[in-house]
Amino acid sequence: MIDATSLPRVLAAASGRPLSLAEHDDVFGLARPVPAFLEELEASGLTGRGGAAFPTFRKAKLLRDQRGHSKFVVVNAMEGEPAAHKDRTLLAANPHLVLDGAEYLAAAIGAKHIVVAVSRDNPATVNHLSHAIHERERRTLRGAKFELHTPPWRYVAGEESALVHWLDDNESLPQYRPRRPHILRIGHAPVLLDNAETCAQVGLIARYGGQWFRSIGTTTSPGSTLVSVSGAVTRPTVMEVALGTPLRTVLAAAGADTDPQAVLLGGYGGAWLDGRNIDVPYANESLGSLDATVGAGIIIVLPRGACGLAETTRIARWMANESARQCGPCAFGLPAIADDLQRLTLDARDATAAHDRLLERCGVVEGRGACRHPDGVVRLVRSALRVFADHVEEHASGIPCAAARSTRHFAAVPALEREEELVWE
Ligand SMILES: Cc1cc2nc3c(=O)[nH]c(=O)nc-3n(C[C@H](O)[C@H](O)[C@H](O)COP(=O)(O)O)c2cc1C
Ligand code: SF4
Repeated sequence: MIDATSLPRVLAAASGRPLSLAEHDDVFGLARPVPAFLEELEASGLTGRGGAAFPTFRKAKLLRDQRGHSKFVVVNAMEGEPAAHKDRTLLAANPHLVLDGAEYLAAAIGAKHIVVAVSRDNPATVNHLSHAIHERERRTLRGAKFELHTPPWRYVAGEESALVHWLDDNESLPQYRPRRPHILRIGHAPVLLDNAETCAQVGLIARYGGQWFRSIGTTTSPGSTLVSVSGAVTRPTVMEVALGTPLRTVLAAAGADTDPQAVLLGGYGGAWLDGRNIDVPYANESLGSLDATVGAGIIIVLPRGACGLAETTRIARWMANESARQCGPCAFGLPAIADDLQRLTLDARDATAAHDRLLERCGVVEGRGACRHPDGVVRLVRSALRVFADHVEEHASGIPCAAARSTRHFAAVPALEREEELVWE
């Protein structure tokens, strides 16, 4: 049994290559049936690690109570965010822990099929998973059958309704649906969809119990979580940390700047946190009072001297290009937001008007998409205007910071694919 009080847990024995099934059994112990599994899952207080932090037990119970059809468990290993590397790191170390968790969930809800979805643009992870699934088929036949699916990469392809829509032989486009609780379906079959890291945490809870899981973390946010740290850091890194650890400690352990100007938490659809607040415990209940969340564990560190508005503009432009373009406010609103950010950053004559337009546009776009993609951009932009308020004033008064024109960037935004590259005026 791995140690309850120390880390790593889901990354235990990570060695740069995936553990074989036999090695996995040695490290974590055999995955035996657990009659009171759902009670343990409830006691653990585990919340989803894919971004929304929804209680994992509540989703599983909702699916268990569905009757009459065969059911699916879908493991979401799409990891669409460019700054996220946690799921591929996990799957390159302990793929069987993720698959164990999916098996426990399938047994608990009565699912006959387990679909593992990973982007085909991530061939190393596809290889690790297909090897691990093959190993399990040779050794044992436990209830549900695994299938590996490889949708093409897009930012929104990992959104749950888009992924299920693709698995149901359609395009990977998010679908309009009522807010939760809502049952996703492949054909008529109900689907329980969980992030890959969530499944790995489930694999540990099934073995060691809910109380073991709670022995680190906070009362409201128990357990450990994976973080992907990039930006002003010696080397981009993935680490496992106890929830509630001061953010400054997380940054120090990652070899990042511990006196940053700001930190982007939760990814491109997340929120900037002022660098003066990095002693906050890294958990949703503490970050919430600063309008930030853990999200999918993405931390981008912005050093002093960089321009937060320029970074935000680049991210917003990229996000606008990733709109699935089926909802008007998202398809037209996000490019307009990126344009206004660009004016605010680089055109002092229009900066004040652009600032006011941005606030207005955020209000118009928010909550008006089939998925939460535009809401993420709104969160990003509002946090930028708040945290970089001094920059806004300077830019508006005609003192553009040199960093805004610098070619050195801290948020690793991939090249734009569908529209022209962002050109500074
Ligand atoms: C635009 C968008 C993209 C998303 N991409 C991913 C993704 O790549 N991987 C993922 O696990 N969840 C992603 N999510 C969250 C999923 O919709 C879903 O909430 C999550 O996979 C549920 O798993 P969890 O309860 O274990 O967190 C995305 C959400 C949105 C709005
Ligand atoms: S909100 Fe945007 S990304 Fe989401 S479905 Fe609509 S157009 Fe696509």
